[in-house]
Amino acid sequence: MFKNPKTIPIVLSVIIVILAGTLVALLLFMKNQPLQTRGVPNLIEIAAMEPDSSVWGINFPNQYTTFLQTETNNARTPYGGSDPVQKLDVDPRLRTLFAGMAFSKDYKEDRGHRWSLTDVRETGRVNEKTPGTCYSCKSANTPMLWAEMGAAEFARTPFSELGKQIDQPIGCANCHEAGTMRLIVTNPALEAALQAQGKDWRTFTRQEMRTVVCANCHVEYYFAGEGKLLVFPWAKGTSIEKIEEFYNEIDFSDWTHAESGAKMIKMQHPEYELYSAGSTHFNAGVACADCHMPYTRDGAVKFSNHNVHSPLFNPAASCGTCHTDVDYVVGRVTAIQNQVWVTMSASEDALVEAIAAIKAAAETPGADPQLIEEARALHRSAQLRWDFIAAENSMGFHNPEEALRILAAATDLARQAQLKAVLAVGSTQSASR
Ligand code: HEC
Ligand code: HEC
Ligand code: HEC
Ligand code: HEC
Repeated sequence: MFKNPKTIPIVLSVIIVILAGTLVALLLFMKNQPLQTRGVPNLIEIAAMEPDSSVWGINFPNQYTTFLQTETNNARTPYGGSDPVQKLDVDPRLRTLFAGMAFSKDYKEDRGHRWSLTDVRETGRVNEKTPGTCYSCKSANTPMLWAEMGAAEFARTPFSELGKQIDQPIGCANCHEAGTMRLIVTNPALEAALQAQGKDWRTFTRQEMRTVVCANCHVEYYFAGEGKLLVFPWAKGTSIEKIEEFYNEIDFSDWTHAESGAKMIKMQHPEYELYSAGSTHFNAGVACADCHMPYTRDGAVKFSNHNVHSPLFNPAASCGTCHTDVDYVVGRVTAIQNQVWVTMSASEDALVEAIAAIKAAAETPGADPQLIEEARALHRSAQLRWDFIAAENSMGFHNPEEALRILAAATDLARQAQLKAVLAVGSTQSASR
């Protein structure tokens, strides 16, 4: 065949080019396959909305075993972590701020996803009047129950009654569609909130879903009407101002403050809203999962780490994929959180003083009732802003500029409330003189 030895290098080159081309094509093909179809083939078929994560774990052992690790985290970070400390003891001002409602009795630091069911059942905030709605974000049984009962019936059923059908903490079914394993919206309240904004998550990119899937739960919400239906207050937008406008328009309040008499809103955990309000990372297209579920390698397999926790426990994996100087960015987290904490603390002092001033005014015979009402409205407005940042779990890191902007407004409004209350008393004295 190779009578002319000069053709050998040419033939060899052709073969090498063909081999290399095939290899590149194969790698490109593999790279474009969804991650879950790489590696081992699926062993069993998983039923739609299967509540038991251990069943999914048969097909996806890496995701399952890292997910189980959320049970074992218990360390603290300067402002977060997984140790369920009683926030009321760390910062006693919270008892005054939440006077008259359940958060003044029990308010613990959050921990891993596997703890969700235990913690919602143990919290001192649950009582015989608690609606089933409280299970919405705590269990992998909920997607199936929502499908079977409908969201309205689910919410109407008392917590204790609904609890009989719930035996799983958060699990695979809260974030994934069985079969395709794609990320999905499982919470009807999120589906409705997006729809109200003219958005359909089915058109979202995979990278967008790596954030939106967390918005199934890490959001501000309220229970609407007698039926206690779960609703996200996003109809006007997701900024704190738009959320406040929404609540004011429907004249909603969670409780009446025991000392100031103001009609208050308790903010929940608006991680999604704060993060998506134009933060540097959000604008750069970074997703919640990039920092909280970084890719991990186990031999030849690469998978998303399902041990979701504070990124400060593994900054090399959480930040190191994008930032070369990990020590520098971790230092920035500390600096940002310290600054936000100092600013938040000033808002709390202002709120506590406003509450005391309104209480004193209300107890002063003849104090101007109109001014007292205005002071109460300012108290509500100030505290829901402070709480938007206080209840958000990153101590401002998710969006430092927005956090500081909102806290500055909170302090200003609280001082205005205090001033009005003092004026309310002053007006009696001048009148009686
Ligand atoms: C750029 C990285 C990054 C992104 C993106 C990000 N986070 Fe975080 N997150 C952090 C850091 C850093 C903290 C602070 C941890 C601490 O204080 O220990 C944090 C804290 C948290 C906490 C509290 C953790 C604890 O230890 O108590 C929750 C919950 C959370 N993030 C959820 C989310 C959600 C939901 C999203 C998307 C809407 C998101 N994060 C996006 C980096 C990120
Ligand atoms: C089905 C509801 C639900 C979904 C979906 C969800 N979370 Fe959570 N998450 C919770 C609850 C509830 C807790 C608190 C559990 C506890 O304290 O018992 C929590 C806790 C956390 C914590 C604190 C963990 C710790 O150790 O302190 C982080 C961080 C977090 N979630 C991030 C995320 C991210 C990122 C996503 C999206 C990829 C996400 N979560 C999706 C409900 C959810
Ligand atoms: C809180 C939400 C959440 C829960 C709960 C959850 N996952 Fe995931 N999972 C994710 C996210 C986010 C990704 C990244 C998806 C992507 O990049 O497209 C992911 C990716 C995956 C993938 C694709 C391969 C990979 O690792 O990136 C598999 C398989 C998977 N998860 C299995 C599971 C199993 C099994 C469970 C239950 C034990 C589970 N997941 C629970 C959010 C979740
Ligand atoms: C998926 C990529 C990605 C990950 C993961 C990531 N970042 Fe970033 N980060 C960026 C981008 C993009 C910017 C925008 C500025 C830039 O281009 O450097 C940024 C900016 C920052 C800034 C400057 C913020 C500002 O307003 O200028 C800090 C601080 C930071 N990141 C900290 C962190 C920390 C801490 C983590 C891990 C918890 C982290 N980042 C994880 C991509 C990432």
